Amino acid sequence: EKGGYDYFMLKEIAEQPKAVADTLLGRIDPSGSLTLDEVRISPQELREVDKVVIVACGTAFHAGLIAKYAIEHWTRMPCEVELASEFRYRDPILDGRSLVIAISQSGETMDTLMALRHAREQGSKVLAICNTNGSTIPRESDAVLYTHAGPEVAVASTKAFLTQLVACYLVALYLGQVRGTKWGDEIQAVIRDLSRISEEVDRVLETMEPVRALARTLAAKDTVLFLGRHVGYPVALEGALKLKELAYMHAEGFAAGELKHGPIALIEEDLPVVVVVPSPRGRSVLHDKIVSNIQEIRARGARTIVIAEEGDEAVVPYADHLIRIPATPTLLQPLVATVPLQVFACELATARGNEVDQPRNLAKSVTVE
Ligand code: BG6
Repeated sequence: EKGGYDYFMLKEIAEQPKAVADTLLGRIDPSGSLTLDEVRISPQELREVDKVVIVACGTAFHAGLIAKYAIEHWTRMPCEVELASEFRYRDPILDGRSLVIAISQSGETMDTLMALRHAREQGSKVLAICNTNGSTIPRESDAVLYTHAGPEVAVASTKAFLTQLVACYLVALYLGQVRGTKWGDEIQAVIRDLSRISEEVDRVLETMEPVRALARTLAAKDTVLFLGRHVGYPVALEGALKLKELAYMHAEGFAAGELKHGPIALIEEDLPVVVVVPSPRGRSVLHDKIVSNIQEIRARGARTIVIAEEGDEAVVPYADHLIRIPATPTLLQPLVATVPLQVFACELATARGNEVDQPRNLAKSVTVE
């Protein structure tokens, strides 16, 4: 059942290229456009939507944060992302023109279920992105786009997260396709890149040994910080969450631009700081700013662990440890950048003698509010 791996988590990390490919299967037609017939909300209804609201918990919430960048960029529609547990208690502004997307691996998370019930009571359409056939959240939604990750056993989500991202990109691109967007050419190019992305995830997995070795050297540390910008910011949050869940270490993710507004005070000699660097080819301003951030924290003694695209030479002088990821369009980078962080957290948990698949105090699916 663990397929020769010590833990389900390792098996599920290794299954990610297939999970990603399976989630794309049959959804991109040969002409390069998307067919999401399963989304039983008509194109006409989707054209009438004036706002997208995403609700989710934990790792699924981080997928939602990344989806916001994609949806707003490709559709120019406002998109809010909210923790499901906070949503209904603040009397959110919703109506028949709001499309609510509920993201949940298990389909049974009570916080997310209550948020979608609230949305439907306000007359909004709800689209579920879910990994579990016939579970409660898709049953109570107007439509569902299933992720095809296969069963995920380890409590800490890995392959489900990557497939949630894929599903979110598909929805964002589909909304762009149905509603028309000025990014027509870009959308075509991204669909092509997406259809090849599982090979890139596979390539990342082949280069993880140095990440494991690095993680083992950090087993006695108390704190690890994670920095990112743009879609790299939710990736940083996810890296930190994984470390909390698995290694029981104090870990925090920050938007790198916020560093100077507070978190830089935390930097001290030999503190490990993981930095997710955006592509230098895409939004190059962000790239240059984050390189300055790496310089700043290193000057204050941080041990910098830099995740950067192959060929990005600007980071080399400031990286104590350099983890390379393949070049991707900026918005798709989380699909490759998250993988080393999963491996890092898993290895640290093992090095600290923790139970990887069943971390203390956590449950795979939380069916109470
Ligand atoms: C949790 C799990 O409590 O629920 C997390 O421990 C998970 O790993 C979160 O991300 C949300 O779960 P689901 O099933 O709604 O995606």
